Amino acid sequence: MTVDTKQDGRTVHIRTYGCQMNVRDSEAIGALLVRHGYRLLAEEAGADVILVNTCSVRGKAEDKALGKLRLVVAAKVMHPGRVVGAVGCMAQRLGNAILKEVKGLDFSVGTHRLSTLPAVIEAVCAGRGPIVDTGDEEPETESLAGHLGGSLSAFVNILLGCDRRCAYCIVPEVRGREWSRPAENVLREVRSLAEQGCREITLLGQSVMSYGRKNPVWEEEAVSPRGFVEPLPRLLEAVSGVPGVRRIRFTSGHPAGCSSELARAMAEIPGVCDHLHLPMQSGSDAILGRMRRGYTADDYRAAVKRLRDAVPSLALTTDIIVGFPGETEADFEATRRLMDEAQFDNAYIFKYSPREGTPAATWKDDVPDAEKMRRNQVLLVDQDRRGAELNQACVGRKVDVLVEGPSLRNKERWAGRSSTNKIVIFDPRETVQAGDIVHVLIERVGPQVMYGTLRGTLNS
Ligand code: 5AD
Ligand code: SF4
Repeated sequence: MTVDTKQDGRTVHIRTYGCQMNVRDSEAIGALLVRHGYRLLAEEAGADVILVNTCSVRGKAEDKALGKLRLVVAAKVMHPGRVVGAVGCMAQRLGNAILKEVKGLDFSVGTHRLSTLPAVIEAVCAGRGPIVDTGDEEPETESLAGHLGGSLSAFVNILLGCDRRCAYCIVPEVRGREWSRPAENVLREVRSLAEQGCREITLLGQSVMSYGRKNPVWEEEAVSPRGFVEPLPRLLEAVSGVPGVRRIRFTSGHPAGCSSELARAMAEIPGVCDHLHLPMQSGSDAILGRMRRGYTADDYRAAVKRLRDAVPSLALTTDIIVGFPGETEADFEATRRLMDEAQFDNAYIFKYSPREGTPAATWKDDVPDAEKMRRNQVLLVDQDRRGAELNQACVGRKVDVLVEGPSLRNKERWAGRSSTNKIVIFDPRETVQAGDIVHVLIERVGPQVMYGTLRGTLNS
């Protein structure tokens, strides 16, 4: 690969929609383009190239990205020479059809073909557009392992694609088959991040606990120093041993992966955070069955119990879908009850959205939109109350905080995140620097933020 190191290279702005995997892809694309001589801009203004990284998970996510693309394309008249491209899940899903949806789009590159972007942009600039590239090969990973550097916290892909095939989900179609990166490649990336000052690593996969189940990731079958044999606990232990890494997160979870070994890993491995995103989707066995989630409400309960027995301070967050085909009032109430039992710190609640090509899209979308809205609202109100109660219970307790930087609102105070993934604002500012892990005594809480006073630095 030739690398263009022109000083006055073209400028590029990347707008990202969707999940953390898309955030990660955008960073990787950014790093790749920088290696090719581009300069990244945080704003659209003045950008020679605008990329919109799209999400397909729900109709609304697609509408947002399409709306944005149309606006950016329309603004091309005021920016002669500017090129606009779509990348990511929607680009992958729609293929050539995206050119009909967004007239005047210069290129569209799917999730499997991101490493072709420098060449695609070159070709478009040379007048060979529009170009659509979705490919059907497996996505490349190692050419997209680059980071922009300089951040305290970074995402690292460990598992690509998804083989679960939940009845409502478009992700397997746009992200392809499950494939786990060899542990050594993951560790190389983590070491390089840590050397550049990164302190918190979030390991990413659509169903991250399936890491290493389909293809081997370790060169040999072995038991780790702490006695782990499962691939993810072994990886967590190895990442924890990388000098400079202070915190480790991994997402998203699935109840089937919440083994007792993983629970022990979360409890025992230094730096593994007390937080897990464990999508529940529904609390009704009938709905879970039709969603093909592969667990019952009792299985979900058992997974939560296994984790909480090992890590009593564990904060759980979740995803819920309301108004799945055939969801009755009784099914909905079962979801409400299970959410209450699980005591989630936060929940992302979505109205079911049929995605063409999924099994559920062939079933009647029979819960009226107004009823989906009502159920959504009921769960939000429940969750706000529950979240506030759980936050309130932290008042008077000390929490570990990874210091990120001065608080945006008040520069005299620090902002950071607790191991349970809550934003914590504290003072005084002396003796502390970004990247430290400190103890903060929580004195008051808001809906999203906790406030407190510094009570000591763990180490730096
Ligand atoms: N409709 C509504 N929500 C969906 N999700 C995934 N597919 C759909 C769909 N078709 C939600 C799930 C998933 C989250 C990322 O998005 O809750 O966990
Ligand atoms: Fe992420 Fe799924 Fe949206 Fe793609 S479709 S960006 S994988 S949430």
